[in-house]
Amino acid sequence: MAPDLRTRLGNVELPNPILTASGCASSGRELAQFVDVSKIGAIVTKSVMLAPRAGRPTPRMAETSSGMLNSIGLQGPGIDAFLQRDLPWLLSRGARAVVSIAGSTVDEYAELAARLSDAAGVAALEVNISCPNVEHRGQVFACDPVDAGAVIEAVRARTRYDVPVFAKLSPDVTDIVAIARACVAAGADGLSMINTLLGMVIDTDAVRPALAGMTGGLSGPAIRPVAVRCVWQVKQALPDVPIIGMGGVMTGRDALELMLAGASMVSVGTAVFHDPSACARILRELDDELARRGVERLSEVIGLAHEMRAAGRSMGTVK
Ligand SMILES: Cc1cc2nc3c(=O)[nH]c(=O)nc-3n(C[C@H](O)[C@H](O)[C@H](O)COP(=O)(O)O)c2cc1C
Repeated sequence: MAPDLRTRLGNVELPNPILTASGCASSGRELAQFVDVSKIGAIVTKSVMLAPRAGRPTPRMAETSSGMLNSIGLQGPGIDAFLQRDLPWLLSRGARAVVSIAGSTVDEYAELAARLSDAAGVAALEVNISCPNVEHRGQVFACDPVDAGAVIEAVRARTRYDVPVFAKLSPDVTDIVAIARACVAAGADGLSMINTLLGMVIDTDAVRPALAGMTGGLSGPAIRPVAVRCVWQVKQALPDVPIIGMGGVMTGRDALELMLAGASMVSVGTAVFHDPSACARILRELDDELARRGVERLSEVIGLAHEMRAAGRSMGTVK
């Protein structure tokens, strides 16, 4: 029997736990040439802001040996175009839409939440708090528990009660559990982790930074152990809070690793750039990994590595 991969995102049942990662599949249109977007657990959209934005200057992508660095910035059409064009398109295709929002002030986040609350068909909000807070000397919201909590509290207050709010955390902090706790105390229904890590590449021929913006976000396989560590620590501290895990997931086995650490859903980002059908492939591979282990339901493996460790047990090698 095929394992039961269904999972819940608040009131919405997802057919499976594999999602796109914000910023890596835009609003799903480009992916639709390669995969049936209604078969993906949910499409997490590129972070939308109030106003249209052009993003940062180019070059804004650089390859690294085990991942990539991007400084796209929050390029996008703004909330009006998103509501008129992108959200209806996703819904017309039968996709479940998790809308990622980003702002420069707490009020901007709150306004976005209110606009999206009035729209039908939003399965959840993912709040990208890895943005500079213009009211706090550009300090990134996600790096300060008070600022992070203030955003989440304002978003939760303006979001319809039946739409779950997930706070997306940055790994670039000393204590991710402290930020996670602040977000949950402020009303987050779940946590997404991890966003990219701040990095830099210098072009040794040109002898200058490879990115016009100098620094960028590192993603891909290089960051997977960081993601596993973050999910593990937060699951340990807040065992009942649902987690969307992400960071360097390239295969079904990678997705399983994040689930064993405590994620109940997994987003796929960088993998999509070289394999646009990665979500469908990773889903098939996850299904296979679970079937080979005799797992009947996804819920059996979520956080299982914690239980095994506590019991001092381990499983045999899987053929
Ligand atoms: C090109 C690019 C653009 C991204 N844009 C966003 C974004 O708009 N909002 C956001 O929350 N995360 C954004 N991310 C971060 C991803 O959603 C994800 O958290 C991160 O890349 C780790 O997953 P991965 O290693 O599978 O890519 C972006 C990542 C990449 C590579």
